[in-house]
Amino acid sequence: MATSLLDKLDLNRIPEHVGIILDGNGRWAKKRFMPRVAGHREGMKRVVDIVESSSNLGIKYLSLYAFSTENWKRPTEEVSALMDLLIIYVDSQLKRLSDNNVIVKTIGDISKLPNKSRQAIEKACETTKENTGMVLNLGLNYGSRSEIIRAVENIVNNSYDVNELTEESFKDFLYTKSQPDLDLLIRPGGEKRLSNFMLYQVAYAELYFCDTLWPDFHEEELYKAIYDFQSRNRRFGGI
Ligand code: IPE
Ligand code: IPE
Ligand code: MG
Repeated sequence: MATSLLDKLDLNRIPEHVGIILDGNGRWAKKRFMPRVAGHREGMKRVVDIVESSSNLGIKYLSLYAFSTENWKRPTEEVSALMDLLIIYVDSQLKRLSDNNVIVKTIGDISKLPNKSRQAIEKACETTKENTGMVLNLGLNYGSRSEIIRAVENIVNNSYDVNELTEESFKDFLYTKSQPDLDLLIRPGGEKRLSNFMLYQVAYAELYFCDTLWPDFHEEELYKAIYDFQSRNRRFGGI
């Protein structure tokens, strides 16, 4: 039987909050002379697998960056294909997500999504809100800078006492309100940048970059990232 890194993981030290920048779908398709959308379709299958593996591992929060505030720059056909995939994802996975006790949430301004996509994701959030398992944050029209601006606007508009503001209380105004900071940020696809993902929440996250393209990111790749995480010495500025 093939050995799995799963056997080597310390299940008592699984990162509580894992973020993944889903990247490399287009290049995966290009390598196969397929249209980019074929890469997104395959990428969606990995979302299904990795959500399940993460929940089985006992990860408490999984944040997936699926569509950024900058991704609207892409050709209209690609944007609509991604928005349609969101509907397909919810239609095909909602039952399974519920069975797995997953709580679906969104991060980002979903009011700008096409109606049907927005309704699909809202239904997923509504249906799963009483669940008690892993929180799945889907980054949809998410950008960290706009999240921070929105937080400041909310602080000002709600006449919040700025003297009360701390590094902790500021978090209440982010999409990830009541959630812990990221412990581990994974970026497949070969690029070594954050692309406007969770800039506030990433402050002390361990960063893991790998060349595997997202559609090839099977559960063993997740175990590899967590295994690597478990070898790190997190000092948080101490010694
Ligand atoms: C998926 O990968 C990320 C999304 C924005 C949906 P890409 O579409 O960015 O793939 P590459 O980087 O072009 O290979
Ligand atoms: C980051 O991927 C955004 C998402 C995964 C949603 P991109 O492919 O958009 O990032 P860049 O353009 O390489 O920085
Ligand atoms: Mg990309």
